Amino acid sequence: MNTVLLGTTDPELEEAARLLKSGEVVGIPTETVYGLAANAFNAEAVKKIFAAKGRPCDNPLIVHISSMDMIGDIASQVPEAAIKCAKRFWPGPLTMIMPKSDKIPLVTSGGLDTVGIRFPSNPVARRIIELCGFPLAAPSANLSGSPSPTNASRVMEDMNGRIAAIVDGGESDVGVESTVISFEGNAIRLLRPGKISVELLRTVCDEVLVDRGVTDKLAEGVIVRSPGMKYKHYAPKANVVLVDSDLDSYKEYVASNAVQGDYCLLFDESEKIPGVPYLTYGLSSEAQAHCLFERLRQFDELGAKTVYTRCPSQNGVGLAVYNRILRSAGFNLVRLK
Ligand code: TXA
Ligand code: MG
Repeated sequence: MNTVLLGTTDPELEEAARLLKSGEVVGIPTETVYGLAANAFNAEAVKKIFAAKGRPCDNPLIVHISSMDMIGDIASQVPEAAIKCAKRFWPGPLTMIMPKSDKIPLVTSGGLDTVGIRFPSNPVARRIIELCGFPLAAPSANLSGSPSPTNASRVMEDMNGRIAAIVDGGESDVGVESTVISFEGNAIRLLRPGKISVELLRTVCDEVLVDRGVTDKLAEGVIVRSPGMKYKHYAPKANVVLVDSDLDSYKEYVASNAVQGDYCLLFDESEKIPGVPYLTYGLSSEAQAHCLFERLRQFDELGAKTVYTRCPSQNGVGLAVYNRILRSAGFNLVRLK
């Protein structure tokens, strides 16, 4: 299959919608990361997403909408707390898990009786959904297990020849995937951290529970509330070592452990260690979120063997940055304090 690269002019977005209406898979930009989209109601089209990604079929997809009216066809029941969150955070990088309607095939929900719904703020994503007239199921547009792509050329790298088209909408703004939450009575449970932070969720709901899977490796046999938590994620080919320490101990640790072919992922240049090559990803959590996945892919291109990095702040979107690095490190956390 020849994968066509489309821009964002009206005729090009109409072409993307035409392909989606005919049951094809199209890579689309969103404000978080790029997605691999197909008609959420069409089981055959959705199967092509799983095939293109090499994704396990029990890992459910998020369903994307372009107006609140679309929810009625997707969810069989909308919790009151979800309405509050929608008013405050939609359109935006928040996915809410609700009981699914019969119109959503089990292929889309990974066999679950719930469905994750997201109303993206990216205007290109919204325009494509509007032109289709149906919601789009879309996981991140990487091969299963690889870091999520934040621009069209990274999608092309993973998906060339596997999907019909990719719409190039420029760099993703946020850089990490949406916050995923579910509802338990009056409480919100955070299943995956993102830009809509715990602090922000607490402004609409008194009780926000952070699922253990966000920061801990789940033991065999433990109930997994979000199937994505089971899989090793965001993993570059390099071995990522996450160090929890102050700067001096980090420098000492790296200086005595790094060998030829190893790298550091630093917040900024001031942390550099003589003789150890590095990339930087920013001082603020927002900057770190924006380029983390791109840096992980760059380390692969450099052929990095081991990447040493220090624990980032866990406040705001920082919790998402920490969660993604921890997973890319296979929960390999070195504590020096
Ligand atoms: O920002 C995003 O959310 C991006 C863009 C494309 O919208 N999408 C994305 O999808 O990250 P994906 O498939 O890579 O991650 C979805 C996560 C998975 O961990 C999945 O297990 C979880 O959400 N999830 C989806 N539906 C669920 C459900 N019904 N119950 C529990 N977890 C669910
Ligand atoms: Mg993903």
